[in-house]
Amino acid sequence: MNIKYFSSVIAPLCLFGFGAFGQEDPSVERGEQTFMRVGCFQCHGTNGQGSEAGTALTPDTLPPEAIANFIRFSPGRMPVYPEEILSDAEIADIVAYLEAVPEPPDPDSITVLKGLKVGE
Ligand code: HEC
Repeated sequence: MNIKYFSSVIAPLCLFGFGAFGQEDPSVERGEQTFMRVGCFQCHGTNGQGSEAGTALTPDTLPPEAIANFIRFSPGRMPVYPEEILSDAEIADIVAYLEAVPEPPDPDSITVLKGLKVGE
Protein backbone atom coordinates (compact mmCIF):
# COMPACT_ATOMS: atom_id res chain seq x y z
CA MET A 1 0.00 0.00 0.00
CA ASN A 2 1.50 3.35 -0.90
CA ILE A 3 1.58 6.23 1.51
CA LYS A 4 -0.74 8.39 -0.57
CA TYR A 5 -3.48 5.73 -0.40
CA PHE A 6 -2.96 5.38 3.33
CA SER A 7 -3.21 9.09 4.07
CA SER A 8 -6.16 9.80 1.78
CA VAL A 9 -8.30 6.69 2.43
CA ILE A 10 -7.28 4.59 5.41
CA ALA A 11 -6.39 7.33 7.89
CA PRO A 12 -9.60 9.37 7.43
CA LEU A 13 -11.62 6.17 7.72
CA CYS A 14 -9.96 5.40 11.03
CA LEU A 15 -10.58 8.92 12.28
CA PHE A 16 -14.14 9.44 11.11
CA GLY A 17 -15.33 5.98 10.16
CA PHE A 18 -16.95 5.09 13.44
CA GLY A 19 -18.80 8.38 13.73
CA ALA A 20 -20.02 8.17 10.15
CA PHE A 21 -21.05 4.51 9.98
CA GLY A 22 -21.79 3.47 13.55
CA GLN A 23 -24.35 4.96 15.89
CA GLU A 24 -22.88 7.59 18.16
CA ASP A 25 -23.20 7.27 21.92
CA PRO A 26 -26.19 9.10 23.40
CA SER A 27 -25.35 12.66 24.36
CA VAL A 28 -26.87 14.63 27.23
CA GLU A 29 -26.21 17.91 25.42
CA ARG A 30 -27.85 16.83 22.16
CA GLY A 31 -30.68 15.33 24.22
CA GLU A 32 -31.40 18.67 25.85
CA GLN A 33 -31.36 20.42 22.48
CA THR A 34 -33.76 17.87 20.99
CA PHE A 35 -36.04 18.00 24.05
CA MET A 36 -36.34 21.77 23.42
CA ARG A 37 -36.49 21.63 19.61
CA VAL A 38 -39.33 19.12 19.26
CA GLY A 39 -41.32 20.71 22.08
CA CYS A 40 -41.25 18.12 24.89
CA PHE A 41 -40.41 20.98 27.26
CA GLN A 42 -43.70 22.73 26.50
CA CYS A 43 -45.67 20.10 28.41
CA HIS A 44 -43.00 18.44 30.56
CA GLY A 45 -40.98 21.52 31.62
CA THR A 46 -37.39 22.37 30.62
CA ASN A 47 -35.98 19.89 33.16
CA GLY A 48 -38.75 17.32 32.72
CA GLN A 49 -40.17 18.46 36.05
CA GLY A 50 -43.73 18.38 34.67
CA SER A 51 -46.46 21.00 34.34
CA GLU A 52 -50.22 21.16 34.14
CA ALA A 53 -49.92 19.94 30.54
CA GLY A 54 -47.61 16.97 31.12
CA THR A 55 -46.43 14.57 33.81
CA ALA A 56 -43.03 14.81 35.52
CA LEU A 57 -40.36 12.78 33.71
CA THR A 58 -37.66 13.48 36.31
CA PRO A 59 -36.15 12.73 38.78
CA ASP A 60 -37.66 9.21 38.71
CA THR A 61 -37.09 8.63 35.01
CA LEU A 62 -38.74 5.57 33.46
CA PRO A 63 -36.58 2.82 31.88
CA PRO A 64 -35.34 3.80 28.37
CA GLU A 65 -37.55 1.24 26.57
CA ALA A 66 -40.66 2.57 28.33
CA ILE A 67 -39.84 6.14 27.34
CA ALA A 68 -39.14 5.17 23.71
CA ASN A 69 -42.37 3.16 23.59
CA PHE A 70 -44.42 6.00 24.98
CA ILE A 71 -43.00 8.48 22.47
CA ARG A 72 -43.82 6.16 19.55
CA PHE A 73 -47.22 4.87 20.68
CA SER A 74 -48.65 7.40 23.14
CA PRO A 75 -52.22 6.27 23.76
CA GLY A 76 -53.41 9.45 25.43
CA ARG A 77 -53.18 13.20 25.18
CA MET A 78 -49.52 13.26 24.24
CA PRO A 79 -48.73 13.55 20.52
CA VAL A 80 -47.04 10.55 18.87
CA TYR A 81 -43.55 11.13 17.43
CA PRO A 82 -42.83 8.79 14.49
CA GLU A 83 -39.33 7.94 13.29
CA GLU A 84 -39.40 10.69 10.61
CA ILE A 85 -39.76 13.33 13.32
CA LEU A 86 -37.64 11.78 16.05
CA SER A 87 -35.06 9.08 15.30
CA ASP A 88 -34.17 6.27 17.72
CA ALA A 89 -30.79 7.96 18.27
CA GLU A 90 -32.52 11.23 19.17
CA ILE A 91 -34.75 9.39 21.66
CA ALA A 92 -31.63 7.82 23.21
CA ASP A 93 -30.19 11.36 23.55
CA ILE A 94 -33.39 12.55 25.26
CA VAL A 95 -33.26 9.63 27.69
CA ALA A 96 -29.62 10.48 28.48
CA TYR A 97 -30.66 14.08 29.14
CA LEU A 98 -33.56 13.11 31.43
CA GLU A 99 -31.37 10.68 33.36
CA ALA A 100 -28.76 13.41 33.87
CA VAL A 101 -31.19 15.87 35.50
CA PRO A 102 -30.09 16.00 39.14
CA GLU A 103 -32.41 15.32 42.07
CA PRO A 104 -33.85 18.59 43.43
CA PRO A 105 -32.47 19.67 46.82
CA ASP A 106 -34.42 18.92 49.98
CA PRO A 107 -36.64 22.04 50.56
CA ASP A 108 -35.54 22.07 54.20
CA SER A 109 -31.95 22.63 53.02
CA ILE A 110 -33.00 25.99 51.46
CA THR A 111 -33.03 28.60 54.21
CA VAL A 112 -35.80 30.84 52.83
CA LEU A 113 -38.08 27.83 52.39
CA LYS A 114 -37.43 26.39 55.83
CA GLY A 115 -40.65 25.66 57.60
CA LEU A 116 -42.79 26.44 54.53
CA LYS A 117 -44.83 23.41 53.55
CA VAL A 118 -47.35 23.52 50.73
CA GLY A 119 -50.74 22.21 51.77
CA GLU A 120 -50.20 22.33 55.52
C1 HEC B 1 -48.80 18.43 24.17
C2 HEC B 1 -48.13 18.10 25.42
C3 HEC B 1 -47.00 17.07 25.37
C4 HEC B 1 -45.87 17.07 24.60
C5 HEC B 1 -45.45 18.08 23.53
C6 HEC B 1 -45.09 15.91 25.01
N1 HEC B 1 -45.76 15.23 26.00
FE1 HEC B 1 -45.09 13.57 26.96
N2 HEC B 1 -46.87 13.44 27.97
C7 HEC B 1 -47.89 14.38 27.92
C8 HEC B 1 -48.98 13.97 28.79
C9 HEC B 1 -50.27 14.72 29.04
C10 HEC B 1 -48.58 12.73 29.36
C11 HEC B 1 -49.38 11.86 30.35
C12 HEC B 1 -49.96 10.67 29.68
C13 HEC B 1 -51.04 11.03 28.71
O1 HEC B 1 -52.02 11.69 29.09
O2 HEC B 1 -50.94 10.65 27.53
C14 HEC B 1 -47.25 12.44 28.83
C15 HEC B 1 -46.51 11.33 29.15
C16 HEC B 1 -45.19 11.11 28.78
C17 HEC B 1 -44.38 9.99 29.20
C18 HEC B 1 -44.84 8.85 30.13
C19 HEC B 1 -44.65 9.32 31.53
C20 HEC B 1 -45.15 8.34 32.57
O3 HEC B 1 -44.67 8.45 33.71
O4 HEC B 1 -46.02 7.51 32.25
C21 HEC B 1 -43.15 10.16 28.64
C22 HEC B 1 -41.93 9.26 28.82
C23 HEC B 1 -43.18 11.38 27.86
N3 HEC B 1 -44.45 11.93 27.96
C24 HEC B 1 -42.11 11.90 27.16
C25 HEC B 1 -42.21 12.95 26.25
C26 HEC B 1 -41.13 13.35 25.37
C27 HEC B 1 -39.73 12.79 25.37
C28 HEC B 1 -41.64 14.36 24.58
C29 HEC B 1 -40.96 15.03 23.41
C30 HEC B 1 -40.50 14.15 22.37
C31 HEC B 1 -43.02 14.59 25.00
N4 HEC B 1 -43.32 13.71 26.01
C32 HEC B 1 -43.86 15.56 24.48
C33 HEC B 1 -47.89 15.53 27.19
C34 HEC B 1 -46.93 15.90 26.24
